[in-house]
Amino acid sequence: PIPVIIDCDTGVDDALALLFAVRHPAIDLRAVTCVAGNTDVDGVVRNTLTVLEQAGAGDVPVARGAARPLIEAPRSARHVHGHDGMGDLGLPAPARSPADVDAVTLLRREILAAPRPVTLVPTAPLTNIALLLRTHPEVTARIERIVFMGGAVAVGNATPVAEFNVWHDPEAAAILLTAGVPITMYGLDVFTRVVVPASDVRRLRASSEPGARLGGELLAHRGPGTGEDPAGGLGDAGAVCAVADPAGLTTRALPVEVSLAPGPARGQTVVDLRPRPGESEIHGEAREQPLVDVALDVDEERYVKLW
Ligand code: BDR
Ligand code: CA
Repeated sequence: PIPVIIDCDTGVDDALALLFAVRHPAIDLRAVTCVAGNTDVDGVVRNTLTVLEQAGAGDVPVARGAARPLIEAPRSARHVHGHDGMGDLGLPAPARSPADVDAVTLLRREILAAPRPVTLVPTAPLTNIALLLRTHPEVTARIERIVFMGGAVAVGNATPVAEFNVWHDPEAAAILLTAGVPITMYGLDVFTRVVVPASDVRRLRASSEPGARLGGELLAHRGPGTGEDPAGGLGDAGAVCAVADPAGLTTRALPVEVSLAPGPARGQTVVDLRPRPGESEIHGEAREQPLVDVALDVDEERYVKLW
């Protein structure tokens, strides 16, 4: 199986990502690290520990990470993820505490200890990952790929042009994109498209198995649709599907740059879709940016079935 570490801000759809990662046979979930985003970092730690316990994976190491972005002030997305950051489903408190090391230390330790290079899956603001890359650059040789949920080619959600995870900590995202490791950007263009139909959500909610039932409740909270019979967007879980089954995603290697200037474009991922030099005439300068494998299309049915 592929050694994977998820860095998350659990988070309704982060929870869907964890549920999938602990069960898929192609994935060896070696650790989970937590960062402020959807809710404060202590809430994220609590939610993450609870989800792993409910999924029967209470032994996966979990560490607390950054409580705020590198430069931006802390902000929360409680309006999307509920007061507890997990849809206010009334989940039990976790039985265990997080590791006694911080997220950056746990990331380094697990990356260096893994039997082969690790795939990192950040589904949250990229603060922990940026701190890791700057503190312990030697880990990059042991990172197979970073598949992150964030950014967008087209429209944003936090602002008209910026996606939440990148907007929350744009400097951290810029550090990630220039890290010199292979990167897949699982952005809003595909993120919003993978939706579990209402009939499957109903079936999961009626399950006697706690992990499946939790998955159903989380999907119902996400919608789209309200009332008794909502469908449920997989959200962040799609990024983990892209690790287990990369063939379900169509990507293109493109230059991506994060807009860091203050103003309306801050946090935008500027994706250069123009023909490459040599292919045809570019008006103006082609900026020298590292290439990122940008997700442009997804096989929705395939990922719904996989999850
Ligand atoms: C991202 O922000 C969070 O609300 C989701 O969990 C996802 O990681 C979408 O912009
Ligand atoms: Ca998230």
